Amino acid sequence: MNDTEAAAQRTLDYYRLNAEAFREGTLDHDVSQNIDALLRHIQAEPPLRILDLGCGPGRDLKTLRTRGHVAIGLDGTEAFVEMARADSGCEVWHQDLLQLELPAESFDGIFANAVLFHVPSTELPRVLLQLSDSLKPGGVLFCSNPRGQDQEGWSGDRYGVWYAWPTWRERVLAAGFVELEHYYRPAGLPREEQPWLASVWRKG
Ligand SMILES: C[S@@+](CC[C@H](N)C(=O)[O-])C[C@H]1O[C@@H](n2cnc3c(N)ncnc32)[C@H](O)[C@@H]1O
Repeated sequence: MNDTEAAAQRTLDYYRLNAEAFREGTLDHDVSQNIDALLRHIQAEPPLRILDLGCGPGRDLKTLRTRGHVAIGLDGTEAFVEMARADSGCEVWHQDLLQLELPAESFDGIFANAVLFHVPSTELPRVLLQLSDSLKPGGVLFCSNPRGQDQEGWSGDRYGVWYAWPTWRERVLAAGFVELEHYYRPAGLPREEQPWLASVWRKG
């Protein structure tokens, strides 16, 4: 196992060991602002085919399905895959972000909520290209990540990269995406109390 695979494995072990507590702690998180940001930029006619990348226990799959879309989940933590299937009734794939096997030109949108920051920086260009390939022409990628000053490393037992906007923007543009919008969360607070950076992109 190389260093990046080991980092992914330890991170997934963290989620596996804390799966039930994570589910309970995040069940009522309101990310409707993010779901709306993804959906409003998709020009295709509904029902839309949406990949919830790193879907966790399935909260947002359920919302997308309730809104009439065909939502498919993907997560590397088996306990989450099972929870998400049971809770949402959606198809959920058990895959590692670092070894994605995605169908080509399949999705109108990809919802990557609080997940891409777990991809080591050396792997990010490849992963972004894979996500682009799996979007239909004109498809939309939504990402939300905890922001920082481009620090990379461990936060407890989770590996991550805390990008500043200029760096994140440069990385996603380099994968051929076209910038649509970005904003900080939670809404309505001073910037120093907004730890999340959300951004929306169209496949170029
Ligand atoms: C912070 S949680 C976000 C979950 C969900 N999207 C949400 O908003 O509540 C990060 C998710 O990424 C998944 N994850 C982390 N590393 C992964 C990897 N290498 N491959 C696949 N999934 C991974 C975890 O299992 C977890 O579900």
